[in-house]
Amino acid sequence: MKTPIVMQDLPPDLKPERLPNHVAVIMDGNGRWAKRQGMPRIMGHKRGVDALKDLLRCCKDWGVKALTAYAFSTENWNRPLEEVDFLMTLFQRVLRQELREMMEENVQIHFVGKLDVLPRSLQAEIERSMAETQHNQDIQFTVATNYGGRQEILEATRAIAHLVQQGKIQPEDIDAALFESHLYTKNTCDPDLIIRTSGEMRISNFLLWQMAYAEIYVTDTLWPDFNRSEFHRALSSYQQRDRRFGKV
Ligand code: FPP
Repeated sequence: MKTPIVMQDLPPDLKPERLPNHVAVIMDGNGRWAKRQGMPRIMGHKRGVDALKDLLRCCKDWGVKALTAYAFSTENWNRPLEEVDFLMTLFQRVLRQELREMMEENVQIHFVGKLDVLPRSLQAEIERSMAETQHNQDIQFTVATNYGGRQEILEATRAIAHLVQQGKIQPEDIDAALFESHLYTKNTCDPDLIIRTSGEMRISNFLLWQMAYAEIYVTDTLWPDFNRSEFHRALSSYQQRDRRFGKV
């Protein structure tokens, strides 16, 4: 059964001034969730979309300004062909179905990853959703699709090496700001909080550069079961952290 969507204010125990600006999620456990229900793996992904939609709405209701979701990694191509096909079709369908609501909810959609190898029809839907929502301002919603942190860093390095080779910049000009301007995420701030579901203590090639000072929260809950109470717990944990950014 689909989780009902209910508008809700920030819970009183959470401090608005200590909310993360940007939350990123590694949505793990869809396959296991489905298996536990005696369903095919793809049903877990379908339910995963509902959990993601609810989290996006919750972020907006509670005042989180950016949400990034790891939807498909560069390694996920190694899954069975039917599952990969299902996911590509699912992304496209969800984008088409949700675009109007994203406009109504003032959500700016953004995609990061190596997008030019995705199915052409999905690329077209991605371009359309990014173009149509580009002026929306309530929340930035980024979907990492065919994303790999190492690949992102390699691509940035290659692009900068070309600039040096062409004499456009000197090696000394390469600093963090220049490097970041060549990452897929150049238009997004770094994540403050990274949430991983299903209990795995891994980063899985996600936002390797960007997560330098992110707080990490891991829950055993499988992604389709991740709900507002779980998010509330993650934010409570985040608000108790002492973020020092390397200082004392
Ligand atoms: C990991 O669980 C999940 C994925 C690889 C896919 C996540 C995608 C969605 C939830 C759909 C998002 C849709 C849009 C439009 C952004 P797993 O399959 O690895 O689970 P397992 O570890 O239990 O096998």
